[in-house]
Amino acid sequence: MYLLYTFLVLLSPSHGFDPNCPGRCSCDSEESVQCYRLSEVPSSIPSTTKKLYISHSKIQHLQPSNFTQMLALEDFILLASGTESVENDTFKTLSTLKTLELWKNKLRRVPSALPASLEVLKLNDNSISVLHRSDFEGLKKLTILELKNNLISSLSPSTLSSLVSLQSLVLDGNNMETVDGPLALPHLTHMSMENNKLHLLPAGLFTSLQSLQFLSLSSNFLTHIPVNLPKSLLSLKMERNRLKMVSFPDLKHLENLSHLYLSENSLSSFDGAQLLANLTTLELSQNQLQMLPLRLPARLQKLDISNNLIQKVTVQDFQDLRDLKHLFLDNNIVSLFEAGALQKCTQLSNLALEQNLLLSIPLRLPGTLARLDLKGNAIQDIAERELKDLKQLQVLNLRNNKISALDLKALEVLPRLRHLYLDGNPWNCTCSLLRAREVLKAKGTDVRGGRCAAPAERQGENWMSSKKIMKQCEHHLHLTEKSKETKKKPKPEELSSIRINMDDDYYDYEID
Ligand SMILES: *[C@@H]1O[C@H](CO)[C@@H](O)[C@H](O)[C@H]1NC(C)=O
Ligand SMILES: *[C@@H]1O[C@H](CO)[C@@H](O)[C@H](O)[C@H]1NC(C)=O
Ligand SMILES: *[C@@H]1O[C@H](CO)[C@@H](O)[C@H](O)[C@H]1NC(C)=O
Ligand SMILES: *[C@@H]1O[C@H](CO)[C@@H](O)[C@H](O)[C@H]1NC(C)=O
Ligand SMILES: *[C@@H]1O[C@H](CO)[C@@H](O)[C@H](O)[C@H]1NC(C)=O
Repeated sequence: MYLLYTFLVLLSPSHGFDPNCPGRCSCDSEESVQCYRLSEVPSSIPSTTKKLYISHSKIQHLQPSNFTQMLALEDFILLASGTESVENDTFKTLSTLKTLELWKNKLRRVPSALPASLEVLKLNDNSISVLHRSDFEGLKKLTILELKNNLISSLSPSTLSSLVSLQSLVLDGNNMETVDGPLALPHLTHMSMENNKLHLLPAGLFTSLQSLQFLSLSSNFLTHIPVNLPKSLLSLKMERNRLKMVSFPDLKHLENLSHLYLSENSLSSFDGAQLLANLTTLELSQNQLQMLPLRLPARLQKLDISNNLIQKVTVQDFQDLRDLKHLFLDNNIVSLFEAGALQKCTQLSNLALEQNLLLSIPLRLPGTLARLDLKGNAIQDIAERELKDLKQLQVLNLRNNKISALDLKALEVLPRLRHLYLDGNPWNCTCSLLRAREVLKAKGTDVRGGRCAAPAERQGENWMSSKKIMKQCEHHLHLTEKSKETKKKPKPEELSSIRINMDDDYYDYEID
């Protein structure tokens, strides 16, 4: 990267031609100067410069005299340059400055006396431990404040009280244990305090944030969802905390909440969420749920309840979820899946049931399914009646089950099947299995077959490619010449409708 920068600077057409452009810098026509590997702020920066970008330099200290000639400066970005201190009032006179980014340096405090014109301040990846009230005084135009990955341990409302225009506040990756409230930031729409040490938040903390739409408190030690969240909230992230229960009456005023992320907590029940009437995405992976939640919100489109302890799926569980498109139930202990349990989900396109204890493919799955993952169950055979309605199915994963024989009829009923994963099963490599192989290939289905477990003389052979078995079964295969002629190429739109990684462990649920 470093070399590349240097190379670009040297190649830059302006370098060496523009007499006003300082060394190790490139200057373009839009009054923008970019410099790398400097040891000081160039004193010969043209006074018309609006944007100055410096990175990978060694500039320990900044002082007012370094900027006196920059009368038009709007954006100053100083990245990864080992800057430790900024003298008082260094930026004070830059009355046109809008963006100040001092990323990946060694600052221990927020530069003082920032100009009132500032709109964006990013001080991520420094060593700032305390925020002072005076740090942000007078910054009435500031809309974005980012202080990710510093050492800040507390936040008090008076520190931020000047920031009347603030829209986005990011404090991820600090040492915050407490936040005092209420925060009064009338235009704040995004707030993130991920990866801190928050145990408890005061009840009124968010009450006055009447524009807040996105709140993330993931990776903390919180045991409760904060009460009095603002009604404007659209998305709440509280993954990786210590939630044991959720009190829905405290959340029911969140009428616009559409995304709720609660994975990696300790929830053992989640009943009554129908109060969140507009919820479309719910993530509950890696909790301790033993049953599917009762009364899920009726507008859900995506439900991730993987990595729990769910044992059964019944008709009652999903009867109201008519908009559900993506359902993740993988890595549970489901052994009972009632026939028709998902029949009311007439939009369902993705069903993840891998790593459960199913003995057969569930009956009467919705015909809208495009992807069905049953990897790592204990399924012994595939029957036509299980698959016959799945006219949209493009991907079927049956890897690592206990299937030894293929009923060709069962697979011929899947007109759109493109990817079939069958490896990791104890195949009995009869010649009729090989015929199934020919038919699937002729249909244009990409099949991962795996190895033979029987008969003894074919053990370990790959039944999709073994020349040995082909030869032994030659007389069984003459029938397939005809199907070879009719081998159709998949239509382009069928191929493009699904973006699939060759490794099926990559779960691409965005297929429609
Ligand atoms: C800032 O300006 C002073 C002189 O005014 C100079 O000695 C110093 O090297 C400059 N510092 C940087 C980091 O450019
Ligand atoms: C810099 O400003 C702070 C207050 O913003 C003040 O406490 C400190 O004494 C000042 N330092 C110098 C060297 O003037
Ligand atoms: C909910 O969303 C609607 C539509 O975007 C908006 O008009 C309404 O003000 C929102 N409600 C609240 C409480 O923010
Ligand atoms: C769902 O959101 C819409 C606007 O997006 C809003 O008008 C409606 O009141 C909300 N529904 C409920 C039941 O809160
Ligand atoms: C494999 O299939 C053949 C023919 O159907 C059958 O005779 C044999 O018992 C099967 N072997 C195993 C191990 O299931």
